[in-house]
Amino acid sequence: MRFVTTSAGDPTRFCAQLKAAGLTVFHVVPTLKGALKAVEAGVDGLIVEGGEGGGFKNQRDVASMVLLPLACSRVSVPVVAAGGFSDGISMAAAFALGAEGIQMGTRMLSSSESPVHANWKNAIVAAEETDTVLLNHGGKGAALRALRTERTSQLELTLPEDIRKEFAGVQQLYFGGDMEAAVPLTGQVCGRIDAVLPVRQIIEETMRDFHATIAGLHARYGQDPAH
Ligand SMILES: Cc1cc2nc3c(=O)[nH]c(=O)nc-3n(C[C@H](O)[C@H](O)[C@H](O)COP(=O)(O)O)c2cc1C
Repeated sequence: MRFVTTSAGDPTRFCAQLKAAGLTVFHVVPTLKGALKAVEAGVDGLIVEGGEGGGFKNQRDVASMVLLPLACSRVSVPVVAAGGFSDGISMAAAFALGAEGIQMGTRMLSSSESPVHANWKNAIVAAEETDTVLLNHGGKGAALRALRTERTSQLELTLPEDIRKEFAGVQQLYFGGDMEAAVPLTGQVCGRIDAVLPVRQIIEETMRDFHATIAGLHARYGQDPAH
């Protein structure tokens, strides 16, 4: 299957052309309105992304716990959950809320195979759940969630003229390991990541723990004692 994800924009812009080229199109949405608009545009599925996720965010951010069940209750296309998912138990939670898949951003960023510098991966491992900031909140364009550094702590207190300028040093950040050179996009789930692991291990453990979680819930709560 040829697959493309579109995001951060109007889903009507490219959807028809991409589908005409034989691609399966999933669009990233941060709100219910966005989800309904994307479905109307004809997407094959949605990535429903909560505001706890790393990266560019809607100015009016909504957590996955609220957004995911809301969107899933209103659309009939397949939904992939994003924002806060990193392992088997969070995957089980996403599926309970109506998703059929999860997308891991921060977890994969921190994996052994991720091409970013070890300083960033180690900072994710060291980070607590409170160690991200939502930048440009209330400013022009998108807000964005990044790891707390000296630079982003300063930026948190201001509304930058143009947040895009904060990415000028992105190469030094990504590959040179200078954590102050730009804005290190990272989600709150950094607080749940405690090791740099190979992608294979992350996926295998996720699937194992997902099934164990579902089975455990069924064993404990599968029978309604009233019946
Ligand atoms: C470093 C980084 C870069 C990202 N770049 C993009 C991007 O270019 N386009 C996009 O739609 N999402 C982007 N994202 C969001 C991820 O695709 C993903 O949906 C998000 O990280 C999920 O939340 P999580 O960080 O809690 O896993 C980025 C995330 C990170 C951490």
